[in-house]
Amino acid sequence: TYVVTDACIKCKYTDCVEVCPVDCFYEGENMLVINPSECIDCGVCEPECPAEAILPDTEDGLEKWLELNTKFSAEWPNITQSKEPPADADEHKDEEDKYDKYFS
Ligand code: SF4
Ligand code: F3S
Repeated sequence: TYVVTDACIKCKYTDCVEVCPVDCFYEGENMLVINPSECIDCGVCEPECPAEAILPDTEDGLEKWLELNTKFSAEWPNITQSKEPPADADEHKDEEDKYDKYFS
């Protein structure tokens, strides 16, 4: 599966949702997540994200993000159409450790 990681927090560009063939993105206040049991591993969303927030969970160190994507995709509403990112999205692009600072 692919997972959404730290870089999405406070950016939420939502380009990713437009290309997903199985509509498996879910929206929280500060970030989106992928439902790992719905993702078909096609990979088309990965290059669409301007923040490079989407990664295959085969990369090292992503256990926490796999867990977070699994948990919150079951709680948050589905999102299939892109929308305006937050006004300060670009200021938070490339910022580190956004989970610790902002995730709620
Ligand atoms: Fe959707 Fe494909 Fe991205 Fe999985 S890898 S979330 S199926 S676009
Ligand atoms: Fe987030 Fe990137 Fe999608 S910032 S909303 S994963 S396009």
